[in-house]
Amino acid sequence: MSTNKMLLKKDIKEKRELVNIEMDRFLPRKDEYPKQIHKAIRHTLFAGGKRLRPYLLINTYLLFKSDIKQTLMVAGAIEMLHSYTLIHDDLPEIDNDDYRRGKKTCHVIFGSDIALLAGDALLVYAFEAINSSSLDDKLKFNLIRELAQETGHQGLIAGQYADIQNEGKKVSKHTLEYIHNNKTARMFKLPIRFGCYIADASDDDISRMENFGEKIGLAFQIVDDILDIEGNQKTLGKTTGKDAKVKKATFPAVYGLEKSRTMAQNLVEEAKELLGFYGDNAELLVLLSDFILTRKF
Ligand code: IPE
Ligand code: IPE
Ligand code: MG
Ligand code: MG
Ligand code: MG
Repeated sequence: MSTNKMLLKKDIKEKRELVNIEMDRFLPRKDEYPKQIHKAIRHTLFAGGKRLRPYLLINTYLLFKSDIKQTLMVAGAIEMLHSYTLIHDDLPEIDNDDYRRGKKTCHVIFGSDIALLAGDALLVYAFEAINSSSLDDKLKFNLIRELAQETGHQGLIAGQYADIQNEGKKVSKHTLEYIHNNKTARMFKLPIRFGCYIADASDDDISRMENFGEKIGLAFQIVDDILDIEGNQKTLGKTTGKDAKVKKATFPAVYGLEKSRTMAQNLVEEAKELLGFYGDNAELLVLLSDFILTRKF
């Protein structure tokens, strides 16, 4: 492994640990009532997971400020919300997947009823977590409002809706981008914006970093589509070959594999160019952008 890759791996691991500790402290124990719900939450939340969204929040913050302590609860909130979307995305009524993060999915272990409620609980916990953080009230209010907007009925949910509605259909390029931007890229842009807000970054920085987030977010989902075709199930920790089976609207389905790869590459290049403004301070974000393109899991 190259020195750069090792550096990124180590840094992701360190920050993942910090966020895990924060979430663990915040969440009820497995044996607290209602036990099944708490067990189900922890089953998926702590199954693994790359923690990329918290990582983006923390590393964006670090472009501007240095004490990351105050970012951790918000980073955890983003991860809890993300994990809820995974639990619900895997349900038989949505993507019907049996594996996630290298383990059986929440509903396979606990049943759809409990998985549904565990997802609901994680979603609500995300808001509670931000509220319980030590940030000032005005900032918390803004974070909570944006979290609701971005992940709500005209954000992430709209993306998920369009994703399932368009199964088996021939989609336009516009619809495909709508799906990917809403179901995935928004959840990359959001933690990046939160990192900027917590660090009190300037409007120029916010818009530059938002642009960065949009590009790596879309690239991330294009690569996810490619990995569903070319990835190794074990390494990936989730079932492959599912998108083609149900004729999902994916980049490879619309553009073909090669063109999709080129599009992801171009997006990551553009994203890295935006980071150029921050010079060496953005080194880890540059490495992360490369990881998004070359990842195997
Ligand atoms: C999976 O996201 C869902 C998509 C948006 C494709 P990740 O690949 O970040 O999942 P975890 O958190 O690492 O399990
Ligand atoms: C998932 O997209 C996006 C969200 C969970 C919001 P996918 O359905 O492609 O994600 P995977 O492949 O199941 O992780
Ligand atoms: Mg899905
Ligand atoms: Mg899915
Ligand atoms: Mg996928």
